[in-house]
Amino acid sequence: MILNTELELKGNLFPTKIISYKKDVDTLYFTSENGVVLQITVQRDSIFRFRFTTTSIFENDFSYAITKYASRGFNQLDITENEKYYCIQTSKIICKVSKLDMRISLFDAVDNYLICEDELGFHWEESHENGGDIVKMSKMSQIGESYYGLGDKPVQNNLKGKRFENWVTDSYAYGRDTDPIYKAIPFYVGLHDKKAYGIFFDNTFRSFFDFCHERRNVTSFWAQGGEMNYYFMYGPNMVDVVANYTDLTGRPHQLPPLWALGYHQCKWSYYPESKVKEITNTFRELKIPCDAIYLDIDYMEGFRCFTWNKKYFPDPKRMVKELLDNGFKTIAIIDPGIKIDKDYSVFKEALDKDYFCKRADGPYMKGKVWPGECYFPDFTNPKVREWWAGLFKELIEDIGVKGVWNDMNEPAVMDVPGKTFPDDVRHDYDGNHCSHRKAHNIYGMQMARATYHGLKKFSYPKRPFVITRAAYAGTQRYTSTWTGDNVATWEHLSIANAQAQRMCMSGFSFVGSDIGGFAEQPNGELYARWIQLGIFHPFCRTHSSGDHGDQEPWAFGDNITDIVRKFIEIRYQLLPYLYTAFWRYATEGIPILKSLVLYDQADAHTHYRNDEFIFGEKILACPITEPNAKGRRMYVPEGNWYNFWDNSLIKGGNEVWVDADLDSMPIFVKEGAIIPKYPIQQYVGEKQIGELHLDVFFKFGQEKSQVYEDAEDGFDYKKGRFSLRNFNLLGKEDSLTIQQFRSGKFITSYETFEINLIGLPFEIRKVEVDNVKIDLSSSLKGNVLVISKEFTELHIIGKKTILI
Ligand code: GLC
Repeated sequence: MILNTELELKGNLFPTKIISYKKDVDTLYFTSENGVVLQITVQRDSIFRFRFTTTSIFENDFSYAITKYASRGFNQLDITENEKYYCIQTSKIICKVSKLDMRISLFDAVDNYLICEDELGFHWEESHENGGDIVKMSKMSQIGESYYGLGDKPVQNNLKGKRFENWVTDSYAYGRDTDPIYKAIPFYVGLHDKKAYGIFFDNTFRSFFDFCHERRNVTSFWAQGGEMNYYFMYGPNMVDVVANYTDLTGRPHQLPPLWALGYHQCKWSYYPESKVKEITNTFRELKIPCDAIYLDIDYMEGFRCFTWNKKYFPDPKRMVKELLDNGFKTIAIIDPGIKIDKDYSVFKEALDKDYFCKRADGPYMKGKVWPGECYFPDFTNPKVREWWAGLFKELIEDIGVKGVWNDMNEPAVMDVPGKTFPDDVRHDYDGNHCSHRKAHNIYGMQMARATYHGLKKFSYPKRPFVITRAAYAGTQRYTSTWTGDNVATWEHLSIANAQAQRMCMSGFSFVGSDIGGFAEQPNGELYARWIQLGIFHPFCRTHSSGDHGDQEPWAFGDNITDIVRKFIEIRYQLLPYLYTAFWRYATEGIPILKSLVLYDQADAHTHYRNDEFIFGEKILACPITEPNAKGRRMYVPEGNWYNFWDNSLIKGGNEVWVDADLDSMPIFVKEGAIIPKYPIQQYVGEKQIGELHLDVFFKFGQEKSQVYEDAEDGFDYKKGRFSLRNFNLLGKEDSLTIQQFRSGKFITSYETFEINLIGLPFEIRKVEVDNVKIDLSSSLKGNVLVISKEFTELHIIGKKTILI
C-alpha cells in the first residue's frame, strides 16, 4: 500500500496467481498470470535472494554492492508444493511462496518459527514520468519486533516507528533526525522472539524504508526505479546476520596499516608548511600521541586536485618526509570536482579522453564546488576509474603522501536545489548506461574505489588508506569513513555515538566522527568528553572547520590537555586489542563496535539502549553526553564486569550509576577477558615492542580471548606471516589456567608476556609453565608475572581461598 508517499499518484499493481514454475540449479522462477516473474536464488543456506520483474524480462544482473568474493553454496535444497504453496527449504530457512498471489513467508528451518512474512508483498506503480516501475515491498511486523541498521541515520538505535530515505546528501550541520544524509546503506536487521534476520534491498535509486511508521504492524521499502531486488539473510544471531551481509557486500580487502588506527589530527586547513610543522611539533613536545596530519583543500593551487600551492608548500616531498621522520603520516584531501581550466592538465586530459559526466542532451555536467565551475569524472566508467587511480602516482609514490581523503563525493554541488547533479546526467554504470537517478547513490563509492586502487598500486608494498564521506552498501571493501559535517554540541556527541554503532551494525566498521564537532567550537569539557568517545571509534580523528578557533588537544587549557593525552594514551595501549577486533571484522565480518542489542539480543533490556556499546569483544564503554556530569546511569549487560579504573567487580543485568569526573568515563571489562596492551608510543612504530602486556581478568569458569599481530603494514600477513594467539582461560576457587594456541608464521619482536592478574580470589602459591614450576622470586612481582611468550599452558595455583 505505502500511503502518504508522493509516489501514490496512480494505483498499485499486484502479481496475480502463479501459473508456471521452473528451476535452474540454485535459482527458481515463478511466473504469474499477469507476467510478473519472481526469481529466487538460494545463495547460501542462510541467504535467499528475491528479484521481481513486471515485464517478464530481468535487467542485466549487475551490482556495485555485491562482492565477487561472496560465498555461494548450500547443504540442502528441497522443493515441494501443495495446493497453496511452493516450499523451498535449506538447512536454515523454509520459504513459502503463495500460489495465489506470490506472497512470501520465511521460517526458521530448525523450529518452524515464522521469521518474516509479506503483508501485501511485492507491488508496483508504473512511473509515468521516468518509465519503468516504482517498486514496493511490504512486510508484516511481528509482535515486539525491533529494527536496526540503515547506515549513518542520526537517530536512536531502534528504528521502529520511523521512516527513512536513502539519497546520499551533502548535509552541512545536520542534526538529530535529519534524513537523508551522506550515506545510503539499504540494509536493516529485524529482531523478534530473540531471532534476528536481515534485509538488504540492493537498489541504488532513491529508496525509502518505513518501520511501522505509516501502519504500526507493517514495515515496507520501496524505490523510485529499478528492480525489487532484495536479499534475506537469517541469523538467528544478529552478529551472524551482519557477518552474512558483509559476506555479500564485502569486508575490507586488507587490514589498515596499524598507524591508521592511531590518533589523527585535522583542520580545514593547516597551512602553510610552518603551521603544519608547528602543529606536529606541538604534539611531540606535549607528548600527545598522533600518527596522521591532514591537508585540507588549501594545500592545492586554486583547489585544483593533484596540484600544490607552491607558496604555502614550496617542497611537498621534503615536508612529507620530514613529517614522516617525526612519525606523522600525511593525508591529503581529493574532491571529485575538476576545475574548468584549459591550462590544467587533469582537466585537459579528462576532456580529451571524454571522461566527464554529461547531461542528457550532450553538454557537460557543470557545477560549482570549491574551485568554482567544475566538471566531474564519471567514476562509474571503468576506464575513468583506471585513469583516476593513475593520477595518484606523483602524490603517493613520489611525494610520499600516505592516505587520501575523498570528500564532496555525494557528489556535492553548490548553489543548486538538491545540492547535487540533476537527474538527467548520464552515467556509464559499467556498461549499463543510466541516468543520475540510478547512479547518484553509488557515485561517491565509485570515486573511493578508484582512489583506493590508486593508493593500493602506488603505496605498494605498504597498505592503502582512504577515507570517504559518501557511501553505498559495499564501500567498506575499499575505505574508511567519517560522519561528515557535524556540530560542536552535546547532542552531536550522542549522535556520533549512535552513528558509529549504526554503521558497524550496517557492515561498515571503519568509522568515526569529527571529534569535537566540525561546525562551531566546543568548550574544553565537550572536547574532552568527545575524545573519550572517539578513542573507542575505529577511526579516531579531530577535525573542525577552523572558523571558530582552534581544536587541537592543547587548545582548551592544561587540564583538558592532560585529560585528552590520558585517553589518547589508552587508545595507543589498546592498539593490539583494537587491531585484533579489526582483523575479526576484516576476516569474519564481526562488527568492531557492538550496540548492546548486537551483543546480547536475548536480553530485552538491550533493544532500546543507545549509549552503551561493546568495543571489540570484551570492553564496555559508555560516553558522558551531558555537561557538568560527575557520572551517569547506564545499563550493564548480563555477566560480571570489572571497572576499568579500579578493577572492582560488578554484576550486570541492571542499570547502575557510574562515577565519572571529567578525567574519567564509564569503562568496564568483561570477566575472564585477556586484554593485550602495548606501551604508550607517540606514534605507531616509535618503539619496538619489548614485551606484550596482558591484563587478565579472573573469572570463575571459562572465557576465550584472542590477540592478532603482524608486521603492522604490508601484505605478508596474507601469506601466513601473522601471529594469532588464542587464549582459553579457566578460573577456579584455587587456580587459574590459561592455555595458549598459536598459529601463523610471524615472529613478534618481544620474547615475554607481562601478565597482570586481576581479581584473583586466592594468593599465588605456585606457578607452572607447561608443567614446570617456575621461580616466583624472579618472575612474580605482586600479581604481575613475567613469562615466555611461548607457553602453551600457564597454571597458577592458590594458597588458600579468600572469600570475595
Ligand atoms: C566539507 C567536508 C569537511 C572539509 C571541507 C573542506 O565540508 O565535510 O570535512 O573540511 O569540506 O574541504
